[in-house]
Amino acid sequence: MHGDMPGVQYVCLPDAQAVGVCAADWVARTLQDSPQAVLVFPTGNTPLPMYEALRHRPELDWSGTRLFHLDEYVPPRDARRPLPYETYAEYMRRELWDVIDGQKHYFIQDVDEPTAYEARIAGLGGADLVILGIGVNGHIAFNEPGAKPDSPARRVALAPATILSNFKALNKPGYPTHAVTLGLKSILSARHILLLATGQAKQQVVRQALLECTPPDADLPASWLKTHPHVTVLTDFEV
Ligand code: GLP
Repeated sequence: MHGDMPGVQYVCLPDAQAVGVCAADWVARTLQDSPQAVLVFPTGNTPLPMYEALRHRPELDWSGTRLFHLDEYVPPRDARRPLPYETYAEYMRRELWDVIDGQKHYFIQDVDEPTAYEARIAGLGGADLVILGIGVNGHIAFNEPGAKPDSPARRVALAPATILSNFKALNKPGYPTHAVTLGLKSILSARHILLLATGQAKQQVVRQALLECTPPDADLPASWLKTHPHVTVLTDFEV
């Protein structure tokens, strides 16, 4: 554990499973402290062990919680039914939300007006806990390089690298080219931020964004986390 930047605490764990269990412990503590907690969840591969750990904690009482997720694909105009890709709403249902209580807010319902989704979080007093993954280019949610710390929820064009990484090919018919994302403003307004990063491919970007004592930079959106008073970074590598 290091305390290299004010507000940012690093916890280095043996492997991705241990990162998932530790993240689930933080969620459990948040629920115990605030039974009506406002929680914002991530998608992607990194948080899968956390969801597995949470599914195995039937003692957790989710009934008062208000649940959100970070981002969602915008279905293309020519989208087929059923969609040829998994939406983040489906991901959230599969990984956790189908087996827990709580008030579930799906971003797909506000895909045409993303600020309405963010306004719901603000209307509940802001998030108690936002859990993030990180892209190899330093993106958090779909706040790609260039995102400003006061950026609102908005529609974004997916970068070709993101499309390739998430869908394994470019320009697949029926696949999304755009997404909606919470902005850095509401992410940075959370009372606690948990960043999960596993695998050597993320080591460099975590170091660059969070460890180096350089000012935050829009080219590395995760570097804005250094301005937050309470960030916990869980990794399975030494930072
Ligand atoms: C995706 C999501 C992010 C996620 C990131 C990393 O595109 N929009 O919220 O954190 O990429 O994903 P993974 O954990 O699979 O590496």
